[in-house]
Amino acid sequence: MGFAAASNAAPSIEVVPLSPALGAEVRGVDLRATLDEETIRLIRKAWSDHLVIRLRGQELSEDDQVRFGETFGPLNRSAKKRAHHNAANPAIMLISNIRENGQLIGALPDGEMHFHTDQSHQETPCSGTMLHALEVPSAGGDTLFANCYTAYETLPDEMKQRLAGKRALHGYDYDNASTRRGTVLKEGVPHAVHPVVRTHPVTGRKALYVNRLMTLRIEDMDPQESEDILQLLFDHIEQPAFVWGQQWKPGDVILWDNRCTVHARTDFSAAERRLMRRVTILGEKPF
Ligand code: SIN
Repeated sequence: MGFAAASNAAPSIEVVPLSPALGAEVRGVDLRATLDEETIRLIRKAWSDHLVIRLRGQELSEDDQVRFGETFGPLNRSAKKRAHHNAANPAIMLISNIRENGQLIGALPDGEMHFHTDQSHQETPCSGTMLHALEVPSAGGDTLFANCYTAYETLPDEMKQRLAGKRALHGYDYDNASTRRGTVLKEGVPHAVHPVVRTHPVTGRKALYVNRLMTLRIEDMDPQESEDILQLLFDHIEQPAFVWGQQWKPGDVILWDNRCTVHARTDFSAAERRLMRRVTILGEKPF
């Protein structure tokens, strides 16, 4: 695994689409190197065009991963203890089911997770999330990504009109509903209200911005009607034609755009170790 030497040579990048839905593999880049401007431009373009990019065979230190993450914007460094940020390097967070001395070393440890977009319960959710796989189970624990541009564009006109200008409440209950949908906003649960359809600040395209895990209700709508529409939208977004699934190998780096995708995780054995190192890129208030 890995590359012989870190260099700053002219790029010989290949961008290979991974599915008709979204996703591309970027080949020919060693992320331990200081990347030149043209390489960064090509990687950014691949991310913008394909929504999710994968780079395989990487062996990144924490600093390498932080440096690569920073080419997409400032990173989130809010050292929250419950989110398992690393005190020495607060941009780093571990996603893992590994326990040391009976204590989890990372967040989001076990099993299946419903589709969601990161931090939609916050006023300014992160624009991107990058995971670097260090240990993966022999089966399962895949991350599935759905294309929310396509989901919006393929809605019937009548539904587009119904959703125009609507806003929805998102909440994330770390203690009671961190992986599966919660339907009520309990006291103290962090929450935010965002447009149901958001405009991507870079591409200008519209994307559906609701997700099964965290979107609780559409504002100014009868509760039953809101729930019926949300369930319809979740099923529409998650249909197989809009989804691609990442089967992890150690050394994979995946960067996804939270502004136009949602992601989910498939189940995996609690007896096997899974360790991902994560950084998130600061985002903007959805509009
Ligand atoms: C996440 O939702 O941020 C974690 C995804 C995963 O563990 O595959």
